[in-house]
Amino acid sequence: MRIDIVTLFPEVFSSVLEESIVGRARKKGALQICCHQLRSFSPDGKGRVDDTVFGGGKGMLLAAEPFARCIDALCEHLGKRPHILYMSPRGKVLDQAMARRLSKEEGLLILCGHYEGVDERVLEEYKAEEVSIGDYVLTGGELPAMILADAVSRMLPGVLSEELCFTEESHFSGLLEYPQYTKPECWRGRKVPPVLLSGHHEKIRKWHRREALRVTKERRPDLLRGYPLSAEDRKLLEEPEELL
Ligand code: ADE
Repeated sequence: MRIDIVTLFPEVFSSVLEESIVGRARKKGALQICCHQLRSFSPDGKGRVDDTVFGGGKGMLLAAEPFARCIDALCEHLGKRPHILYMSPRGKVLDQAMARRLSKEEGLLILCGHYEGVDERVLEEYKAEEVSIGDYVLTGGELPAMILADAVSRMLPGVLSEELCFTEESHFSGLLEYPQYTKPECWRGRKVPPVLLSGHHEKIRKWHRREALRVTKERRPDLLRGYPLSAEDRKLLEEPEELL
């Protein structure tokens, strides 16, 4: 996958996107990330990209033309138009299903706003999908774009060592992840649940499922509403001790 990011601050992306899993995905060639300085597409040639808001709004707005020039140049370079996203608290909130859907695109072009945002017409012109990372307002789209790029790129084929790594974790299956433990078996008097040391695969599977259901019910009951519980799930929720 190729992810292009249009921003006033391209330099802030390098440290985060060169590390860890995203960095590895890039080294493996599964992912290419290219950041573009919006100011380079300023029509005045002096790097000015913002202006005052019609109708008396406060602050400054990013103008449509610099984004349009950047997008057009990129589309010409790529020979096609990637799926265009605009990071905004007005957008649909990013979740695992959206990250999975976006990970299937060949290319993404992420537009980052700043100041009071961007002239609405550029979003209309390019049919940009607006994406929020949560119901709070940040100063710009750069952190949200990094979060989106991270969530998407770890789902690309071959990026995580085993598919299990993300198929079992929180939100992938619609449930939160069960608790996990490593050595030592007893740490500061706290013991690893004995079933996990038993080698009994079926009991361990049921324990994992029961704990995922328990944690989700306790912390995010909203996720359980509408979740397709199996007969076994119901039993595990209603009689948590019985099956183990
Ligand atoms: N830009 C500012 N706040 C944002 C948010 N919550 N999500 C995405 N982009 C943003």
